[in-house]
Amino acid sequence: MRISVIGCGYLGAVHAACMAKLGHDVIGIDVDERKIGELQAGRAPFFEPGLPELLEEVLATGRLKFSSSMADAKGAQVHFLCVGTPQRKGEYAADMRYVDAAFLALLDSLEPGNVVAGKSTVPVGTAARLADDLADCHPEAILAWNPEFLREGFAVKDTLTPDRFVYGVPEGAAGIAATAALDEVYYTPLSMGTRRLTADYATAELVKAAANSFLATKISFINAMAEVCEVTGADVTVLADAIGMDERIGRKFLNAGVGFGGGCLPKDIRAFMARAGELGANQALTFLREVDDINVRRRMRVVELTRTLVGGSLLGKRITVLGAAFKPNSDDVRDSPALSIAAQLQLQGADVTVTDPEAIEGARRRFPELSYEADLETAMAQADALLLLTEWDEYRAISPEMAGEIVSAKNLLDGRNVMEPAAWRSAGWNYKGIGRP
Ligand code: UDX
Repeated sequence: MRISVIGCGYLGAVHAACMAKLGHDVIGIDVDERKIGELQAGRAPFFEPGLPELLEEVLATGRLKFSSSMADAKGAQVHFLCVGTPQRKGEYAADMRYVDAAFLALLDSLEPGNVVAGKSTVPVGTAARLADDLADCHPEAILAWNPEFLREGFAVKDTLTPDRFVYGVPEGAAGIAATAALDEVYYTPLSMGTRRLTADYATAELVKAAANSFLATKISFINAMAEVCEVTGADVTVLADAIGMDERIGRKFLNAGVGFGGGCLPKDIRAFMARAGELGANQALTFLREVDDINVRRRMRVVELTRTLVGGSLLGKRITVLGAAFKPNSDDVRDSPALSIAAQLQLQGADVTVTDPEAIEGARRRFPELSYEADLETAMAQADALLLLTEWDEYRAISPEMAGEIVSAKNLLDGRNVMEPAAWRSAGWNYKGIGRP
């Protein structure tokens, strides 16, 4: 099929490459010419395992092209809207200007029978509004909402073989036609057994908001348990293992630590609360405010634990922060707990050095006042405390003996509960985890 992908950020660039991998002819479009140049040259504008290899493979087939001109969307049968919906400045609500602008610009390229498939995470009601606009100027084109659930770090796998597809489609013949078009797009994963649900627009939009809210709630739940563990001397990691063995609960997303960050969970739960408020259903989601509060509180807690770890005052203390990305296998520093903790420690007088295998460049742009060091051993040298805040494999593999020889004081704060306390303690370290004795 001929497909256009509007917006080549994290979601769109991966989606475009994956659709070409599935055998389609794809044009990826973005207003950012620099990004288009990078992608056309086979370079991913962000770190995502497997994406550079996939880009090289599909660009060589000639099935994937990139352009900064919306006119190049003409001729595609399915147009995927993949632009961002960031949090509005000073508000909880999502900023819809990129979705609206992309949709408006696309209208000129549409032909009868085309399907416009929204993938961006949007406030419920957006699809119905866009469908009305579409009906006014292209009554024979169809709008579908097809939310995306990819995780950074696993984006290629999650796009090619997701857990499920969700199609929000209109009733009647248009809905049947849109479903058939999307089934053709996803023929390969569907034929391998990937489940697919069809729903109305509002349900499809809400599936995404609800899924992210549930994940955020799970993380804040275990972080709340960590708070209780801290005052009782209990161990949240054993607690998580034990409750996770109940199949109704499940062990995934029960890792207590510095909390969730990134470009999705924090802003998506806030946008969901804002939208519920507009719809008069704010009470239904007031618990998400608590989820958000617990999450933000984790960051403050780590600052306090660090202060205690270095003897009561942060002034002039050399702190090495291991990890800047919001999670491992990503260079994304948007709302990264690690960076916000590093910045807060620096504000309170500590001398902070941040290291990360991939995210230093992005981190430096956001927090130029922090010091950065790419070499792990150099970063750790002379530190009064190490803070593991993003659990990259290379940090999990640090030897307590080796690290013990280069730091000033053997203090480790394991903000992700991934180190082996006994191994560090027996090497003479003062080990502190989150919610564990
Ligand atoms: C998330 C959703 O998982 C994905 O389905 C959606 O499409 C986009 O948002 P992503 O932002 O890539 O994906 O990250 P995710 O793997 O969900 O992690 C989010 C944050 O939660 C990270 O900061 C991570 O470190 C943290 N986390 C995750 C925990 O603190 N504990 C856990 O147990 C799991």
